[in-house]
Order: sequence, then structure tokens, then C-alpha cells
Amino acid sequence: MLETTPRDESAWERFEALYRSRPAILAPMEDVSDAVFRRVCRTVGADVCFTEFVNCEGLLRGAETARRKLTLSAIDQPTAVQIYGSNPARLAEAAQVAAEAGAAFVDINCGCWVPKVAGAGAGAAWLRDPSAMVAMAEMVVRAISLPVTVKTRIGYGPESHMPIVDLAQRLEGVGVAALTVHCRTAEMGHTGKADWVWAQRAQEKVRFAVMVNGDVCSGEDAARALERTGCAGVMIGRRAIEHPWVFREVRARLDRGETLALPTLEERFALCHLHLAWAVEALGEREGLRVARRHLGGYLSGVQGAARLRKALHQARAMDEVYALLDRVQRGEYIA
Ligand SMILES: Cc1cc2nc3c(=O)[nH]c(=O)nc-3n(C[C@H](O)[C@H](O)[C@H](O)COP(=O)(O)O)c2cc1C
Repeated sequence: MLETTPRDESAWERFEALYRSRPAILAPMEDVSDAVFRRVCRTVGADVCFTEFVNCEGLLRGAETARRKLTLSAIDQPTAVQIYGSNPARLAEAAQVAAEAGAAFVDINCGCWVPKVAGAGAGAAWLRDPSAMVAMAEMVVRAISLPVTVKTRIGYGPESHMPIVDLAQRLEGVGVAALTVHCRTAEMGHTGKADWVWAQRAQEKVRFAVMVNGDVCSGEDAARALERTGCAGVMIGRRAIEHPWVFREVRARLDRGETLALPTLEERFALCHLHLAWAVEALGEREGLRVARRHLGGYLSGVQGAARLRKALHQARAMDEVYALLDRVQRGEYIA
């Protein structure tokens, strides 16, 4: 018989209030959803952010990458720490460390398809054995006082009847607090269209919150996804990388039925400056520049000269160079 850690009632109450508010959630994205990007997304309306996935073995070893991913500042809330691994007992231990690090709740990755992860029995590999996934989730749930959520896909593929509906019921049965469904199979990777109908079928059968994920790119998409599926909220990944304003667009549409105009040029440049400043503050000039750079082209997409700016940014080695480039594009000057 597994022992159960008593619940942290206030953390559960906060979680339930959040997941009842039709949240717009920043997806966990390796090499993207770092502390700086979470801060950016919060300023433009993200209600909850997930960390990049953290390897439970690295986390338990105290590896540098895991330590960085697990560092949550006081303003970095509410943030869920996402963990992945193949060994239930190690995942349970890792969840305890994540909880101590200040996670609002802990999410288990059961959806990553990349061979390095799924081939080692972690991520989407759990979809090949739903009973093992449920038993693992139960062990993690019992190990910590915080809510535990699961993020997974509709099935491994190419089955025609997806296991997600049955899985949702079984995960709810062992005390998982909510589920995010990336509406593709693992075999699809990021290709093809997300089929939201599976999130609907799952939500219909459970009382806990199901978050719909996959191809939500605008306020309109979010409204349509929630109407069609009856799900409790949306999780957004790729669109946010280039257009974090998607979160405020979702809030405006869901809360007030409004469709917001696209951000102004001033807002676009202001966000570039903010992202750069926060990245350099957190990571130093060299690394901050590397990390921020990949977003700036997207923030300025549609602006005249943005394609050339993107190229120039990749060659820039210092902050002053980047600021000078941004100023020139903002003044409408040509960049060779
Ligand atoms: C660059 C990148 C990294 C990702 N890393 C993770 C991850 O660490 N954990 C995870 O559960 N999903 C990860 N995903 C999947 C996303 O969280 C999300 O499920 C997927 O992109 C579909 O949502 P979207 O259509 O809104 O992008 C990643 C996706 C991308 C594009």
C-alpha cells in the first residue's frame, strides 16, 4: 500500500481557482519556455506558465541544466515544473524536489516523441502502456502535497481508437488534478492538424479540467477550441514564440468577447527591448543575446526590413549592435 502525502490545501485551492478561470497557459517548450520568456508572456497575459521539461535523473543528480530550469524567482508564479523520466520512483522523488523549488504544481511529461526521450521509455513512451502510466502518475500524486497534472497526446499512433479518453478517466481516478491533451499522436510529432475532438471526448467523461493544446494561435482559435470541446482552458506553444501577445488576445476574447488589434509598432519594439534587457540581466550579455535573438525576428514579423534584421541579428555579437539595428529598423532605415 502506497503512503499518501497530505495535501497542501491552499496550493490546491489556488490551482483549482486558476484552472476554473479558463486559463491561457504557456506550454512547456525546451529551450524556449525559460524564466525570461515566462516573464515576457506574463506581461502580455499568460495566466500560468510551464517550465521546459526537466529530466528527473539530471534533477536528482543536481545537474547544472536541471538546476537552471528549476530556479523559480518570486515573480515567476504561478509556474508549473514539468518533469520527465521512465522510472516511477525516480519521478516521484523528482516531483518532491520540484515542489520544494517553489512549483505551483508539478506536471509529468507523457507526450514527448523525440527518440532520445521516448526511446528511453520516457515522454510519449508511457502511451504504449496506459496501465503503467496510470500507476506511475499515482505514485507521483501520492509523493507530493501539490497538485500533479499530466500532459500527453491522444495516443502513440497509428491506432484509430485513441487511448486518451480511457486514460483521462483512469488518471482522474488516481488523483491527477488536470490533464493537457496535445491533440496529435506521438507519431505525428508536430506535423498534421491537431484534432481537438479527442480533447472534447476526454473532457466529456471526466470532472477534472482538460486543457486543449495544438494549433491554438489566436483569440478566435481559443474561443472556438473551448466552444467545440467544452475544455477548461487552452495551452499555447509555437504561436507564442513569435507572438506572445496571443495571450492577451485570448483573454480579451474569452473575458469580453473582444477581438484585439495586432500590437502596434511601438509595442513590438518595446517588447524586443524588454526581452533583451531581461535576458541580459538574467544570463549575461553573450547568453542573453543568444536566447533573446531567436524571438526578436518573430516579434517584428511584418515590419518592413524584418527579414534582413533577423539575419543581421544572428551576426550581432554585442548588445550595442542589436540596439543600433533595432533603432535603424524602427526609423525605417534600410539594413544591407
Ligand atoms: C521547441 C519546442 C519545444 C517543446 N518542448 C516541450 C517540452 O519540453 N515539454 C512538452 O510537454 N512539450 C514540449 N513541446 C510541445 C508543446 O508543449 C506543445 O504541446 C506543441 O507545440 C503543440 O502546441 P502548439 O500547436 O500550440 O505549438 C515543445 C514544442 C516545441 C515547438
